[in-house]
Order: sequence, then structure tokens, then C-alpha cells
Amino acid sequence: MAAKFLLPALALVGSAIAQCDGPSITITTSEDASQISSCQTYDGDVIIASEASGQISLDGVGRISGDLTCKNASQLTAISASQLTQIGGVFDLEELQILSSLQMGSLVGVNQINWIALPALQSLNFAQGVSTANTVRISNTGLTDLRGIELQLVKAMDINNNNYLRTINVNALTNVTDSLSFSANGMNLEIEFPNLENAANLTFRNVSSISMPSLSEVPGSMGFYSNQFESFAAPNLTEVGNTIAFVDSPNLSNLTFPSLTTIGGGLLLANNSELSAVAFDKVEMINGDINFYGSFDTVSFDSLTDVKGASSIYTSSTNTTICDLFESAKSNQVIKGKLTCETSSDNTAGNGSTTGSSSGSSRSSSAAVANLNYDPTAPLTGFAALVAAVLFI
Ligand SMILES: *[C@@H]1O[C@H](CO)[C@@H](O)[C@H](O)[C@H]1NC(C)=O
Ligand SMILES: *[C@@H]1O[C@H](CO)[C@@H](O)[C@H](O)[C@H]1NC(C)=O
Ligand SMILES: *[C@@H]1O[C@H](CO)[C@@H](O)[C@H](O)[C@H]1NC(C)=O
Ligand SMILES: *[C@@H]1O[C@H](CO)[C@@H](O)[C@H](O)[C@H]1NC(C)=O
Ligand SMILES: *[C@@H]1O[C@H](CO)[C@@H](O)[C@H](O)[C@H]1NC(C)=O
Ligand SMILES: *[C@@H]1O[C@H](CO)[C@@H](O)[C@H](O)[C@H]1NC(C)=O
Ligand SMILES: *[C@@H]1O[C@H](CO)[C@@H](O)[C@H](O)[C@H]1NC(C)=O
Ligand SMILES: *[C@@H]1O[C@H](CO)[C@@H](O)[C@H](O)[C@H]1NC(C)=O
Ligand SMILES: *[C@@H]1O[C@H](CO)[C@@H](O)[C@H](O)[C@H]1NC(C)=O
Ligand SMILES: *[C@@H]1O[C@H](CO)[C@@H](O)[C@H](O)[C@H]1NC(C)=O
Repeated sequence: MAAKFLLPALALVGSAIAQCDGPSITITTSEDASQISSCQTYDGDVIIASEASGQISLDGVGRISGDLTCKNASQLTAISASQLTQIGGVFDLEELQILSSLQMGSLVGVNQINWIALPALQSLNFAQGVSTANTVRISNTGLTDLRGIELQLVKAMDINNNNYLRTINVNALTNVTDSLSFSANGMNLEIEFPNLENAANLTFRNVSSISMPSLSEVPGSMGFYSNQFESFAAPNLTEVGNTIAFVDSPNLSNLTFPSLTTIGGGLLLANNSELSAVAFDKVEMINGDINFYGSFDTVSFDSLTDVKGASSIYTSSTNTTICDLFESAKSNQVIKGKLTCETSSDNTAGNGSTTGSSSGSSRSSSAAVANLNYDPTAPLTGFAALVAAVLFI
């Protein structure tokens, strides 16, 4: 009785009859994989078992309609799939302690890349390069660069905790429709997106240089936290839909946004101890709040006409002209919300505390209006005229 059922199963393995219809196949050895090696498309999920060890070859199969998954195969060293061009689902690799080779010379399209905890994986062998993917999440790998990820469009990309990552240059990337995020990667990570034009949201943490010369539009937010760069420039950026933040960049001394006209959210600068000059000379409109904390000596907004939110300015600089300018902007109704401006300030960390005692000049906006006795119908003269001409119209 038993033999009757056993025989066909054995025959199947031996002759590698193509089993191209899913829903799934679990592969422990390359021999198991030979069952799908003649499939142009395997219609389902391919799961490499956690017991798999050494090298697994998926050579032959051209396309996997579902996921390609391998989790917790602690003895697996290599996965190859020389003809595989597309993965319709998730390319999910997790907790593969000694996986050091991913050889997929034909792979061009993946729905989602999800690679987590691949400490021995130092490079990708993707000769063609993955040019389309919806989402890419790469965390805790040994990768030193992302060569092989050659995306032109991506919905979301999150690259974090890859301690050996030194360079990222995705030359082809032009549009990001949801978010790009980099955090806690290699100490000296240099990021280049030479052709990136439109990125919905951008977040950079622990990065040492960023180049995005073509960036023209960020519909969402742009946040830079704990970076080591000395300068950041967005030469072509004209509009940001939400907030711009630069926080905790101790080496940042040169911030350049020469084309930016509109900030749909707020503008936050805090804990950038080397930033002595703040200039957003083309910015006309800020929809949210201005929050500046630091030691900057000059602030210029040559084109500003409308700040819908509040403004909080705290600088340790003794340059009282800074507050004169903001107060003038408040009294001109350029700044619609509450204004708090303090020079010679102790509250330069931007920790939300505005009640600490201040040794310097601290004036509320109402006091400032009274001080300057601004009359909008009177022609501007003297200092007020200079202020208006130089800075806030
Ligand atoms: C991974 O495998 C080890 C044993 O090999 C097991 O103890 C652990 O629970 C597994 N982890 C997951 C997430 O499956
Ligand atoms: C990244 O920056 C955060 C602060 O935002 C810091 O706590 C963390 O230690 C940094 N990580 C690395 C790897 O530099
Ligand atoms: C990419 O961004 C550019 C510049 O914002 C835009 O003109 C173009 O339509 C976008 N392309 C796609 C495919 O989203
Ligand atoms: C910057 O924008 C201008 C005008 O849209 C364009 O001609 C130029 O190629 C852009 N520069 C870069 C580096 O993309
Ligand atoms: C930006 O990110 C936020 C929050 O993660 C999300 O709600 C939004 O859709 C993203 N895109 C844009 C264009 O704001
Ligand atoms: C950043 O500044 C610190 C001192 O604040 C210095 O030790 C470090 O070398 C600087 N890093 C770079 C990349 O310039
Ligand atoms: C600041 O950066 C801009 C753009 O990269 C550059 O043109 C300018 O010379 C720099 N300024 C200083 C003082 O280094
Ligand atoms: C004081 O601030 C104003 C406005 O930013 C600037 O024009 C001026 O050069 C600053 N003075 C000094 C001494 O930094
Ligand atoms: C905020 O910063 C000020 C000045 O650095 C400090 O005196 C105060 O204790 C801080 N408050 C909090 C809640 O950390
Ligand atoms: C600036 O740094 C101080 C001290 O590390 C911290 O308390 C504060 O929250 C930081 N400010 C911002 C806006 O992150």
C-alpha cells in the first residue's frame, strides 16, 4: 500500500518534472529547486527552508509571481538564480548569519525588497541591476554600497543600521513617491542622487555628505538629524510641501537653498553649533512655524512676505539686529503668529523650554511693536527702511 504512494513522489524528484503552479514550494536543497528550474514563471511563493545550508541554486526559473523568502537559515552561504528576472511579491531575506553571496545576474524587477540581518552580505551580484521596485528596506546588512540597486522610480526606500555602508549612489533614481530614509549606517556615509528630481519625503540621519543637485520638489518633509556634513545645498529645490528640519549637525556651517520659494510646513534649525549664517533669500511663504535655536549671527530672508505660523528665534549671538528684523516682520504682518525672539540667549538647544532665565534681550512681539512704533501708512525711514529693504519686505 505504502509503496504505491511513494513511487510517484520519488519519480517526480528524479525526473525534475516542472511543477510551475503554486501555491508554494519549499526548498531545502538545490535538488529541490530543480523541480522549478524549467519554469519560465513559477506561479506562487518560493520558500528556502531554514534548514537549507551551503549554496542554493535556483538557476533556470525566469520569474516568481509571488514571494522569494528565506528566514533564519543560519548555515546558508549563497543563493543564486541566474535567469531570474522578476519577483512579483516580496524578496524577503531575514536572519541569514553567513549568507555572503547573492548572485542574480538577470534580476531587474522586484515588488518589495525586505532584507534584514544579513551581516555577512557585503555586496550584490546583480549584473543587470534592479531597476524597478515599489519598496526597498535594507537593514543590518554588511553591504558597503548599493551597487545592483539601480532604481529609477521607487515608492519607499529605508536603509538603516548597515554599519559598513560607505557610499550610496543611485544614479538612475529620479522620483520617490512616498519616502527615502537613511539612518545609523556607516560612520562616513556619502550619499549621491545625481538625478533625483522629486522625492515625497526625505530623512537623513548620521550621514557625512549628501548630494542632490537636481532635486526640485519635495511634496512632503525634509529632515536632517545628527549628520556630520559641513555643508548642504539644494541648488534647484523650489518647493517643499511640509517641514524642513536641520537638527544636531555639529559641523554644519554652510546651508544653501538658493531657489527655494515655498515651505508648506515649518522651518526648524536647532543644535547646529557651527551654523553662523542663516539665509533663505528666495523664500516667500512659510505655512507653519519658524523655530531657530543656535548661535547664528545673521539671518536673512530677502523675499519673505508671509509666515502663517509663529516664530521662535533664540540665538546666543549678541546681534540685536536679528530681533529687530523679526519684529519688523511681525509688525508688518509678514509673521501672522506669535513672535518670540531672543539674542544673547541661553535657550539655544530648542528643548521647548522658553521659561529659563535670559541674560540677554528678550522682547515679546507686542513690546517690539510698541518699541518701533510702526505705522504701516507712514513712509519707512531710517533703520526701519533699511530693515525692510534688506530683509523682510
Ligand atoms: C532561528 O533558529 C534558531 C535555531 O536555529 C531558533 O532558536 C530561533 O527561534 C529561530 N528564529 C526565528 C525568528 O525563527
Ligand atoms: C545616529 O544619530 C543618533 C542621534 O540622532 C545617535 O543617537 C546615534 O548614536 C547615531 N548612530 C550612529 C551609528 O552614528
Ligand atoms: C518625476 O518628477 C518630475 C519632477 O517633479 C515630474 O515632472 C515627473 O512627472 C515625475 N515622474 C513620475 C513618473 O512621477
Ligand atoms: C536645475 O534646474 C534647471 C531649470 O529647471 C535645469 O535646466 C537644470 O538642468 C537643473 N540642474 C540640475 C543639476 O538638475
Ligand atoms: C510623506 O510621509 C508622510 C508620513 O509618513 C505620509 O503621510 C505622506 O503621504 C508622505 N508623502 C507626502 C507627499 O507627504
Ligand atoms: C566635526 O566636528 C568635530 C568637532 O566638533 C570634529 O572632531 C570632527 O572631525 C568634525 N567632522 C568632520 C567630518 O569634519
Ligand atoms: C556654501 O555652499 C555653496 C554651494 O555649495 C557655495 O557656492 C559657497 O561658496 C559656500 N560658501 C562658503 C562660505 O563656503
Ligand atoms: C547682524 O544681523 C544682521 C541681519 O542678519 C546682519 O545683516 C548683520 O551683518 C549682522 N551683524 C553682525 C555683526 O554679524
Ligand atoms: C532647556 O535648555 C535650557 C538651556 O539650555 C536649560 O536650562 C533647561 O534646563 C532645559 N530644559 C529641559 C526641560 O531640558
Ligand atoms: C538639542 O540638544 C539638546 C542637548 O543634547 C537636547 O536637549 C535638545 O532636545 C536638542 N534640540 C532638538 C530640537 O533636538
